[in-house]
Amino acid sequence: RTGGSDAAKRRAGEAAADRVTDGQVVGLGTGSTAAHAIRALGRAADSGLDVRGIPTSFASRQLAREVGVPLTTLEEATPDVAIDGADEVCERPGGFDLVKGGGAAHTREKYVDSAADDLLVVADPSKLADPLAGPIPVAVVPDARPVVAAAVRELGGEPTLRAAEHKDGPVVTDDGNLVLDCAFDGFDPDELSAALSATPGVVEHGLFCGLADAVFVGTEDGVEVLEA
Ligand code: A5P
Repeated sequence: RTGGSDAAKRRAGEAAADRVTDGQVVGLGTGSTAAHAIRALGRAADSGLDVRGIPTSFASRQLAREVGVPLTTLEEATPDVAIDGADEVCERPGGFDLVKGGGAAHTREKYVDSAADDLLVVADPSKLADPLAGPIPVAVVPDARPVVAAAVRELGGEPTLRAAEHKDGPVVTDDGNLVLDCAFDGFDPDELSAALSATPGVVEHGLFCGLADAVFVGTEDGVEVLEA
């Protein structure tokens, strides 16, 4: 998750934030690249842009509050646009497939990003992949971990419970779930997405197939915009 330079991530985040227009509601993604977009939206709000954000994690909510992006909820508003990062981006006919969830935020990211009219992905060149490699993060209800792990093995995958860095024990998501990072030796994104979604005990997985409308790839000297 640390492949690209911060300058490249910043260019991508700022370019996507520039697309936001007055009066829009914006889904606020999670991660170091989306954070640059949130900071840019905070500056734009300071300068008078009427914008409201719907955060996808504790971290993006805290950052939005710090930088002055007014917040709302899905109960109050529907996002016009979402700006979100990705761990892997692969072009597909008419769009993109993504792997997300490196920050364990993919459950909220998926329903906020899906609710938005447009999903703008912000990335650096280290995220471009063809094909997607994984592993695929899968959020599971804690009690269901053994049965989901068995189902993943049936699908040909190898699940690893994600361990927390500064705690003895597993990562617990903002919604109280655990994360299985599931390695597959090659996979069809649509088929694997459907199979994981159909597995009882799975809360959400990190394959985002065909959702993104554009990908802003920050480089050392500019931004390349890939449109679906
Ligand atoms: C959060 O769970 C992820 O989906 C992030 O959006 C993804 O990991 C990208 O993060 P970075 O921009 O920090 O690489």
